[in-house]
Amino acid sequence: MKCAVILAGGKGTRMKSDAPKVMCSVLFQPMLHYVIRAVKEAGCESICVVTGYKHEVVEEYLSQDIETAYQNPQLGTGHAVMTARSFVEKHIGDKILILNGDGPLMDAETINAAYAYHEENENAVTLVSAIVDDTEGIGHIKRDENGALLRIVEHKDATEEEKNIKESNAGVYWFNGESLLYAISNIKNNNAQKEYYLTDSIEILLKSGKKAGAFVCENSEAVLGANDRRQLNILNTIMRRNINDAHMINGVDIPCTDGVMIGADVKIGRGTSILPNTIILGNTVIGENCTIGPNSYIKDGRIGNGVVLDNVRLTDSEVEDGADCGPFVHIRAGSKLCKGVHIGDFVEVKNSVVGEGTKCAHLTYIGDSDVGSNVNFGCGTVTVNYDGKNKHRCKIGNNVFLGCNTNLIAPVEIGDFAFTAAGSTITDNVPENALSIARAKQVNKEGWVNEKKPYKNM
Ligand code: UD1
Ligand code: MG
Repeated sequence: MKCAVILAGGKGTRMKSDAPKVMCSVLFQPMLHYVIRAVKEAGCESICVVTGYKHEVVEEYLSQDIETAYQNPQLGTGHAVMTARSFVEKHIGDKILILNGDGPLMDAETINAAYAYHEENENAVTLVSAIVDDTEGIGHIKRDENGALLRIVEHKDATEEEKNIKESNAGVYWFNGESLLYAISNIKNNNAQKEYYLTDSIEILLKSGKKAGAFVCENSEAVLGANDRRQLNILNTIMRRNINDAHMINGVDIPCTDGVMIGADVKIGRGTSILPNTIILGNTVIGENCTIGPNSYIKDGRIGNGVVLDNVRLTDSEVEDGADCGPFVHIRAGSKLCKGVHIGDFVEVKNSVVGEGTKCAHLTYIGDSDVGSNVNFGCGTVTVNYDGKNKHRCKIGNNVFLGCNTNLIAPVEIGDFAFTAAGSTITDNVPENALSIARAKQVNKEGWVNEKKPYKNM
């Protein structure tokens, strides 16, 4: 069985963040999210996260199926694994993956390839390495003249010569359970930082006669971590590019990627265009042949086929086939726009169902309402859903015509085919097929201006 220990106890001082480093975001999700995702995808059935600095923030974020071990104080990566000793003991006969929680680009493919290498070579430990340009702060991989792995030298402890070694430790290791237990029982802190380095376990195991190897990962980006915000920005750029590329290969059109940020869990159908400045996040699913953007923000949307969202902000809502929204539309949580709905400029919809073919072309608020099909909202219609204490619902039947500037004071019901006169403030139910006029009657006072002379120059 495969299991994993994720190291997430460090503070990450250089991030200058209130949160622990692993909670710093890449594409709007904590780095830890991606590591857990990759580990699960790689088939690890049991996961333990070592927490430390602000452990409660990490613990709250984790789902129930993940164990935690609290490391306090944080005395290094080796010490972090010592903290998870009981997890290691439980999995003594298993293969244990250990990886840093601050490496969000590490993928299941690389983890599995390293596992295959570990098994093939019958190693006690296999680390993942990569050839990198920027060697600042890395663990350098030392090999002998025949290329056999010797040990890892941390940058801070390295000689000038060792600092030239470009093979970097990724912070990802496969251990046989019993070898890991042996290693963490023997790690000492005699180094520049007075820390217990997990990296020392390579030398410890080699010295005890076990086999250790390094799996060199061809994708050097997969091993990148982030210690400060500039590096976080680089990870964002790489992940953004990888995700956009994958969608384009699947037939999604992104004519210009400027400002296009798509979350790792988003699904988009072929033939859909994503236009500049569009952020799509969470568990959003978008169908085929849609046009999304420009300037849109979609989070947890369920979008059908052939939908147009132009300058739209939409959260946790559903839009059925052929509906279109925009420009400048806000669809708030709990809304459903049925087939062929048209929502035009400066309209807000909140927690409402809008029936098939209904049109709401401009300047309207639909809140807490159940709207039937083929309704026409006149410009400036407002569902008055809040009385200062409570929210109430409006129910609007099918084929209703709401005149411009109708106020519907909720709770109120409008029957099928009913018609409201422009400017009406509707406080009582309107029966089907009725015309409701709820406004003062117009009065024209002839000659009033000449008589009263209300203007300055008169
Ligand atoms: C570590 C490796 C280095 C490797 C690099 C890859 C060691 C000694 N060095 O260095 O060889 O090239 O990762 O990114 O392992 N953590 C804890 N508790 C601690 C200290 C750290 O849980 O006491 C966690 C951190 O939250 C982080 C991970 O371990 O997720 C790595 O720690 P970090 O301080 O970033 O190690 P590096 O200096 O990057
Ligand atoms: Mg690091």
